[in-house]
Amino acid sequence: MVRRNVSDLRAGMVLAEDVLTPGGRFLMPKGTTLDHGHVKSLLAWNLPDVGVVEGEGGSVSPVAVPDVEAVAAAAAATVAERLRLLDPGHPLTPVLHRLALDREVRRRKAVGGDASSASSGGEAARPAEDAPSPPESPEALLRDEPKLVSPPEVYLRISEVLRNPASTVDDAAESIRHDPNLAAKLLRLVNSSFYARTMRAVRGRFPAKVDSLSRAVMVVGGRQLATLALGVSVLPLFQDIPPHWVNMQVFWEHSVGCAVAAQSLAGALGRENAEAAFVAGLLHDIGRIVLFKQASTHMAAAMRQAVTAHAPLFETERALLGFDHAALGGQLLQKWQFPANLEKMVRYHHDMDEPLFVEEPAIVHLADGVATAMGWGASGNRHVAPLAPAAWDALGLTAAGVAALVPAMEARLAETMHSFFPDRAGPP
Ligand SMILES: [Fe+2]
Ligand SMILES: [Fe+2]
Repeated sequence: MVRRNVSDLRAGMVLAEDVLTPGGRFLMPKGTTLDHGHVKSLLAWNLPDVGVVEGEGGSVSPVAVPDVEAVAAAAAATVAERLRLLDPGHPLTPVLHRLALDREVRRRKAVGGDASSASSGGEAARPAEDAPSPPESPEALLRDEPKLVSPPEVYLRISEVLRNPASTVDDAAESIRHDPNLAAKLLRLVNSSFYARTMRAVRGRFPAKVDSLSRAVMVVGGRQLATLALGVSVLPLFQDIPPHWVNMQVFWEHSVGCAVAAQSLAGALGRENAEAAFVAGLLHDIGRIVLFKQASTHMAAAMRQAVTAHAPLFETERALLGFDHAALGGQLLQKWQFPANLEKMVRYHHDMDEPLFVEEPAIVHLADGVATAMGWGASGNRHVAPLAPAAWDALGLTAAGVAALVPAMEARLAETMHSFFPDRAGPP
């Protein structure tokens, strides 16, 4: 038996041992001859490596070699379709096209040239149904979801700390300590590459691994850690989308992709609170989860219409519901009294016509565009929505500057996904 990195697995290899999920659940029996579906499934579980049967002469065989030209052509078609709504004259469009194509070719090679994968879409519209009248307003929709009436207890404690200017860093740590699950998630996050640079800067004062909330507060900052905690504490409320809508792993990969991109852009722009950008990215599409559950017939129609008309999904949501997932998400965060800047970043991430609030939502808008273009998960969109000129102008970035950030964003995405969902058994 030899151990193979999961990204090196190919159809035709034979498992030399039973494969379990990182959480210990049985996945595949010893002796399975892998096909493309098995390889995709193992990739989706983010396992580090598996044991496969060693072939004669010490090599692992057989190895399916994907047709390089066919992979390149299929990847080009996928990326062209995904980016078809972008303005070809925008300086970022060719950059996103090149980066997305490079990533799509790598992804296809990893799964033996197979066309589909968990990270390439994941949405599945339900069949047509007789449409009832649309929900009258975001408020009415939220009233009908009892779980969302109030946020979790730990959220309220953290929120109180953030609102009180006299609160100390110890108060921040104390508010989180009451929820061991949340504390563990935050420690994993702080120990991921997300804060590697900060930790390098303070090396000597802290051990390589941050093992307590007090140390995490010192590395990240009390208010920043509380801001991260605020976002992470509400994630468990959003874990039960019916699977025929969106694969939750894929949905959260999109959300974390947007979060790391927003954090990275905010850092590059010299913004003080990059954690707020991270949390806004993490929660930017939560309104869509509420819509999938509470307005499923209209969402089915909106998704069909977005596909047939080649339109951004938020536009067809507005056409059929009178509002979109961003307005709904913003309404929910306002109801829960999230900090106003976070609420605005979520509420306006598809609405750059609101002159008072362009700058911060523009970070999430661009981060969402990058995450969708790169195929980092999906939240129901088939196409990247056009980049709003007002957002691009407000940020003052260059296409080359954004391109330079993308490889680090992708590395952080993988590590942050692992820190949030270490057993990949499901959503947070
Ligand atoms: Fe969105
Ligand atoms: Fe999004």
